Amino acid sequence: MKVAIASDHGGVNIRKEIKKLMDEMGIEYIDLGCECGTSVDYPDYAIPVAEKVARGEVDRGILICGTGIGMSIAANKVKGVRCALVHDVFSARATREHNDSNVLAMGERVIGPGLAREIAKVWLTTKYEGGRHENRLNKIKKYEEENL
Ligand code: RB5
Repeated sequence: MKVAIASDHGGVNIRKEIKKLMDEMGIEYIDLGCECGTSVDYPDYAIPVAEKVARGEVDRGILICGTGIGMSIAANKVKGVRCALVHDVFSARATREHNDSNVLAMGERVIGPGLAREIAKVWLTTKYEGGRHENRLNKIKKYEEENL
């Protein structure tokens, strides 16, 4: 599995923690920033990660900002991306099993590095269940194909 990861200035510490986790898990990743000497704009980081996922250049994306909200809103504008904003382990598992989420967003002002690590670990290792969920995802795909 290959992952693209990025954060704005509000998510630098959790980004570091998740990179450490992926090193330990032997997961390959590319880090798309930010360098973050100063305040930056989250869409400049969310969209490149989401596009890499949508193009199939990576399998998954992980995005961190202050709340995770801006990152998730921006990432979900990219066709084919299913970005889940997650701050608990139950949802991390459920969004993989049910939604086949391909991007994970978290907020560093909401949760600490320990919980972020657990969430990322579960999200990275849980498989999509398919079955009844496939029909629901197909409805989203159909909407993306036919609208806007
Ligand atoms: C930056 O101050 C903050 O707005 C950003 O990290 C994020 O929380 C946006 O949703």
